[in-house]
Amino acid sequence: MKLSNVIGILFQMIELTRLALIPTLKDIYKNPYLIFHPFYVFFTNVWAILGPAMDEHEKEMKRGLIDPHARGVVLDLGAGHGHIIKYLDQSKVTKYIALEPNICMHSKIRSEASSHGFTESNGNFLLISCSASDISSVLFHLSTSIENEEKSRLHSASGIIIEDIRVDTIMTIRSACSFPSPEKTLSRLAKNVLKPGGEFLFVEHVLSERKDVAWWQRFWSPIWEAFAGCRLDRPTHLWIGGIKDLDGEGRTIDMWSASEGEAKRLAEDPEENLFGHRIGRFVKHL
Ligand SMILES: C[S@@+](CC[C@H](N)C(=O)[O-])C[C@H]1O[C@@H](n2cnc3c(N)ncnc32)[C@H](O)[C@@H]1O
Repeated sequence: MKLSNVIGILFQMIELTRLALIPTLKDIYKNPYLIFHPFYVFFTNVWAILGPAMDEHEKEMKRGLIDPHARGVVLDLGAGHGHIIKYLDQSKVTKYIALEPNICMHSKIRSEASSHGFTESNGNFLLISCSASDISSVLFHLSTSIENEEKSRLHSASGIIIEDIRVDTIMTIRSACSFPSPEKTLSRLAKNVLKPGGEFLFVEHVLSERKDVAWWQRFWSPIWEAFAGCRLDRPTHLWIGGIKDLDGEGRTIDMWSASEGEAKRLAEDPEENLFGHRIGRFVKHL
């Protein structure tokens, strides 16, 4: 790898720290309670610098992924500042659920959702502040919020009718790089939170197939994780694509329908890139 590609990340960290430090200190001065969440405040200010530019650069790609495929109840994992909301087609999306553990980001998500017609009072918006890895809390929030008409009815093996609180679409855009126990978390989300026939959409920066790039991703990951809370060395696309399920007789089968689904490279990403992305769409088998 070229030296400039290897050390560019260091200059990025220095520049972002320079830009985000003063706004972070101002936020803590205005609301001293935030001293207990310094990383949340800092990363919110970092994302206010990085997020809009990245979103603008990727709008065609996101429109192509989200607009045609997000439908029904949509769960956005690590919603950040709610950048995906503008790509949701309101004629197909009945509810937007933003999961975002960083409480400093909540006001931006709420105002972005509201400006696109998703509000708690309309019943088509929900904001959850737990981690994506906390599946029981995710299911608890879904069960208490989803209106009866949104729940589909299922017959359990014993013939008892149970409500299906699972969602139609799960999205993760550059968030799985931050999940604790990511492989297990993604698998449990697909198994327990996504409905059969539902879609798992993602855009994630992943571990490179090139050995030299992967070596530098592993080298920088602990430092980047301390700075931004995310890792560069995760093969997230392979983990999602490889999720397994059990059939009615307890045999292991693929989670995803074979006829649909792919995880492709982002065309404009250079190969020598610590942040090479994969865009993916997988459909859960019925
Ligand atoms: C790089 S930002 C991406 C935000 C947004 N998805 C976007 O594309 O604009 C990563 C987000 O993941 C969130 N995150 C961090 N840890 C998480 C966790 N355990 N569960 C869910 N989200 C998490 C962060 O708070 C942050 O908002």
